[in-house]
Amino acid sequence: MKTDNPVKLSCRNVWKVYGENPDQFFQNGSGQVDDLEKVGQQIADSGHIGAACNVSFDVHEGEIFIIMGLSGSGKSTMVRCISRLVEPTAGEVLMDGEDLLKISDKELIEFRRHKMGMVFQNFGLLPHLTVLENIAFPLKIQGISEEKRLARAREVIDLVDLTGREDSFPRQLSGGQQQRVGIARSLAVEPEIWFLDEPFSALDPLIRRQMQDEFMRLQKMLHKTIVFITHDFLEALRLADRIAIMKDGKVVQIGTPAELVLSPADDYVMEFTQDVPRVRVITAGEIVINGGSTDGLPRVNASSNLEQIMPMFANHPEGMAVERDGEIIGLVTPQAVVNALASESNSNGA
Ligand SMILES: Nc1ncnc2c1ncn2[C@@H]1O[C@H](COP(=O)(O)OP(=O)(O)OP(=O)(O)O)[C@@H](O)[C@H]1O
Ligand SMILES: [Mg+2]
Repeated sequence: MKTDNPVKLSCRNVWKVYGENPDQFFQNGSGQVDDLEKVGQQIADSGHIGAACNVSFDVHEGEIFIIMGLSGSGKSTMVRCISRLVEPTAGEVLMDGEDLLKISDKELIEFRRHKMGMVFQNFGLLPHLTVLENIAFPLKIQGISEEKRLARAREVIDLVDLTGREDSFPRQLSGGQQQRVGIARSLAVEPEIWFLDEPFSALDPLIRRQMQDEFMRLQKMLHKTIVFITHDFLEALRLADRIAIMKDGKVVQIGTPAELVLSPADDYVMEFTQDVPRVRVITAGEIVINGGSTDGLPRVNASSNLEQIMPMFANHPEGMAVERDGEIIGLVTPQAVVNALASESNSNGA
């Protein structure tokens, strides 16, 4: 599992408070407060806005970590705090253990230029530059020679399937193509951490779905550490290793898609998850039975969902062997599937 990988990025008690005097709420910069509720109340009562309140999470190497929540819940604020496009009021943001809030401006510029990739909802392309020039632009800022940066730009153009459109201008491209340029540009610098803030929200559903597939294909090759923002739970389900749900600047729950669907922390989380078909969320790995013989049984991957494995029971009513990372971890049976779905519908009162 991705959460077994080392932690790449860690947010600890991060706050972003807007208003007249946001520092008054924090004795020291750590962001740890004795009484969270009280401080939240003081912030609101004094006319300040708590855009991010005591946010803590870890993102592991190679993980796709999704931040979800309604409009205004603080998602963009959090990615901007991590990249210090906005300065957090308090807290720590650790990248490979180093506090990004304490590094010098010079180191920060280095971090942004070399280690970080960012994709925006509105694509953010430079209209007067061609596709090729847009993609090579971050490398130009790095001072890389024209020959090298154009060669690298061509490589990523190929990666995102835009070969042939190098000399087009952004206005000559469809929304999906423009976002491919945005993705290519962010990848040109080979970032160690990749931030995507609602990258597909401006696209119509069909293109959106294609872009999600495309994104997963890229991630299979590149294994980036990713913080991805969306307010679409189905998108989160398709892409996420784990999801953090934000509300009013706070993280309400962090978990795998299945954890959120099966045990939502409160009504707010349930609102997001209630329409999601359980069969698409529960995986073989979550209902695996340890022990018992799996000799001669076909194998299914632990990450396969019930929708994918159920048809196989027609030919293999005795069950299937479940494998994770090439090792058999147990057995999945029709009864285990029925139990999982039945207990779920009971607990939902359905
Ligand atoms: N510069 C600012 N000054 C004051 N308040 C701000 C500022 N920027 C953001 N906010 C407030 O902080 C809160 C969080 O905003 P943020 O942009 O992080 O939300 P979001 O979850 O990304 O929403 P959306 O889904 O609409 O993009 C909102 O209440 C917003 O009005
Ligand atoms: Mg936003």
